[in-house]
Amino acid sequence: MEELTLATRDLNKNGFLNLEVDPTLDLVAEINKLKKEKNAIVLAHYYQDAEIQDIADYIGDSLGLSQKAESTDADIIVFAGVHFMAETAKMLNPSKKVLLPDLKAGCSLADSCPPHLFKKFKDKHPDHMVVSYINCTAELKTLTDICCTSTNAVHIIESIPKETGIIFAPDKNLGAYLQKKTGRDLILWNGTCMVHEIFSHEKITKLKIRHPNAKFIAHPECEPHLLEMADFIGSTTGLLNYTKDDEATEFIVATEVGIIHQMQKASPDKTFIPAPPTNNCACNECPHMRLNTLEKLYLCMKHELPEVHLEDWVVKEGRTCIDKMLDISKKAGL
Ligand code: 13P
Ligand code: SF4
Repeated sequence: MEELTLATRDLNKNGFLNLEVDPTLDLVAEINKLKKEKNAIVLAHYYQDAEIQDIADYIGDSLGLSQKAESTDADIIVFAGVHFMAETAKMLNPSKKVLLPDLKAGCSLADSCPPHLFKKFKDKHPDHMVVSYINCTAELKTLTDICCTSTNAVHIIESIPKETGIIFAPDKNLGAYLQKKTGRDLILWNGTCMVHEIFSHEKITKLKIRHPNAKFIAHPECEPHLLEMADFIGSTTGLLNYTKDDEATEFIVATEVGIIHQMQKASPDKTFIPAPPTNNCACNECPHMRLNTLEKLYLCMKHELPEVHLEDWVVKEGRTCIDKMLDISKKAGL
């Protein structure tokens, strides 16, 4: 108990329970046992390590994960993803305990849009509606009219009357893609995802020459000059489905490399080449997503810490834009 009290204090500093884990422990078996004992569900994004994806009850993109977080009857939602995703789960199901293995698992897009600065930006365009990518803080959602994910963003923009002006935050690349796709003139916040802005046009061009039959597929968070050369643009689920359905047997994949685990599982005979970043780093791995580990997942389920808390007003005011998004998605069959 003393050990846990110390570790809880440590949470404020490190964001996770910094306790020793017995290296002989079968973590997969232990996590499965904890799921049953505590009626807990593990939700994982495609950008998690393969071993975390393999133990999850549900793996999906931001939209699928939100839908699952809303509909689950588990008592505890363990979010193997990043902070804004766990916050969204808490807003959608505030009576549940929502756990995140590492509270410091953030997001460069969410960080790029501090609510107090966004409020000033929004006040300059009082007659505009605000559409925010779900990759933003819970507080930003309180300043948002409709939320969106990369799966439903086109539907969300198209649901707004043509004569209504729209502010789109925080991803300027997704925003530029939406402008092109819908023909709408959006006012863009200047945010980017640190993973999707790192891909090298030059290296991808060289790869395409070496693999002439490979399809180049990209997430809409990528920069416009990359999207222009893509054979297909889609959310993580969209990209995964494309690789299953398309007849090509080779794909160059421009998104976080974690998704390739599911692509390879679904199509074991196909080849997936991660799009290379500009330098020789592992920058196509999201450093925030990858803060979660199997050890942290186990500790967080065992001790039910760290937990995501939100103030009541944030849940109340932030939820409306997510409900609208889920409603439009349902009507669109997404
Ligand atoms: P989707 O889950 O909507 O594909 O978005 C990817 C992403 O960057 C999540 O952080
Ligand atoms: Fe945020 Fe990009 Fe990481 Fe997704 S991949 S969590 S958008 S930093």
